[in-house]
Amino acid sequence: MAVVATPWRGAFASLRARAARIAEFVTTPVLPSDYLDMISPLRASADLRGRIEEVHPETRDAVTLVIQPGGGWRGHVPGQYVRIGVDVDGVRQWRAYSLTSRADRADGRISITVKAMPDGVVSNYLVRRVRPGTLIQLDQAKGDFTLPAPRPAKALFVTAGSGITPVMGMLRNAVSELDDVVVVHSAPQPRDVIFADELRRLAEQGQIRLVERHTDVEGMLNLAALDGIVADWAERETWACGPTGLLDAAEKQWSDAGVPDRLHIERFRPTVVVTGEGGDVTFSNTGTTVAADGATPLLDTGERAGVLMPSGCRMGICFGCVAPLRTGAVRDLRNGQITTAEPGDDVRIQTCVSAAAGTCDIEL
Ligand SMILES: Cc1cc2nc3c(=O)[nH]c(=O)nc-3n(C[C@H](O)[C@H](O)[C@H](O)COP(=O)(O)OP(=O)(O)OC[C@H]3O[C@@H](n4cnc5c(N)ncnc54)[C@H](O)[C@@H]3O)c2cc1C
Ligand code: FES
Repeated sequence: MAVVATPWRGAFASLRARAARIAEFVTTPVLPSDYLDMISPLRASADLRGRIEEVHPETRDAVTLVIQPGGGWRGHVPGQYVRIGVDVDGVRQWRAYSLTSRADRADGRISITVKAMPDGVVSNYLVRRVRPGTLIQLDQAKGDFTLPAPRPAKALFVTAGSGITPVMGMLRNAVSELDDVVVVHSAPQPRDVIFADELRRLAEQGQIRLVERHTDVEGMLNLAALDGIVADWAERETWACGPTGLLDAAEKQWSDAGVPDRLHIERFRPTVVVTGEGGDVTFSNTGTTVAADGATPLLDTGERAGVLMPSGCRMGICFGCVAPLRTGAVRDLRNGQITTAEPGDDVRIQTCVSAAAGTCDIEL
């Protein structure tokens, strides 16, 4: 239908613009958008936020958070993750969490499931302290740890600990579309299995074959023994998520078997391959200089020195931590590659996967 311009429409728009300018003038230094943020923080035109609506304990150290995303949320594909920004003791922290909810919930809510890490700043805050009603920053969902279309004839999921989360996102959404599913999951004890009841129910209903490995009693899962657990593992399209050791072993095993393309991996931590000499690191905007070793990411170095560091996934995939390297040398911890900068160069580095390789100056 054609939109017909009318004189009153133009006059109304100009009146509205003038009213907005007057509102901005009388509310300065707080802008009207700041007031709107207080009244309607989840509106579509605001920065993307979410409100934690429910907190459900899963195990002794894991909870599921149900979040109402703001109007700008564009949805997700099961298996993807979302970056969230939370204020912990006055400092904004960003972390990534896999989405565990159905993608088509009638109320539009999403969920993430967080396991507390020893000494973990954000995970402990979310597991032990956060309350319903808390507002958080959200980013759009990302990631390619997802199921293909058409679905594979035979699927295998190999997970450990919190690595079950993206897989549960896929199972909740698509288990009825998968004919033959095996889930091999490790946790220290039966009570540590996140989503235990749901996984066992799916197994009882014949929708998945579930192999639980309780590592306190049975020891760590040795993938070399997978033949005895899932005889046809090499024929299955496989998704694996868990600690670095398990994922590195899986990559080697699938590669040795000549089927590396059948393995899809989600890492929660970067693989650190090389470390080296450190040096003095200056964060020039804040006038902070600290000695750093050659193994600690500059993101951690800066945070420990009290510098407000931008961040996100903390493992080199989201680019939320990129900062200008003004001078000096840094080493990419994933491959050992050295990046150097002279004054005036336009060099940017990912601080979460870079460590000092001599004296360096970061513009933060
Ligand atoms: C794509 C992606 C999806 C993720 N999904 C989930 C999820 O669904 N559920 C979940 O609980 N976590 C998930 N994570 C991990 C999460 O982002 C945080 O890294 C984790 O919660 C720890 O943050 P923290 O602030 O508590 O720990 P920090 O304060 O950052 O670190 C505390 C200590 O723990 C170590 N550490 C941090 N993370 C890990 C880890 N994963 N394994 C081992 N040691 C670690 C650090 O080196 C440090 O010594 C995901 C990460 C990525 C990249
Ligand atoms: S924090 Fe995501 S790439 Fe560095």
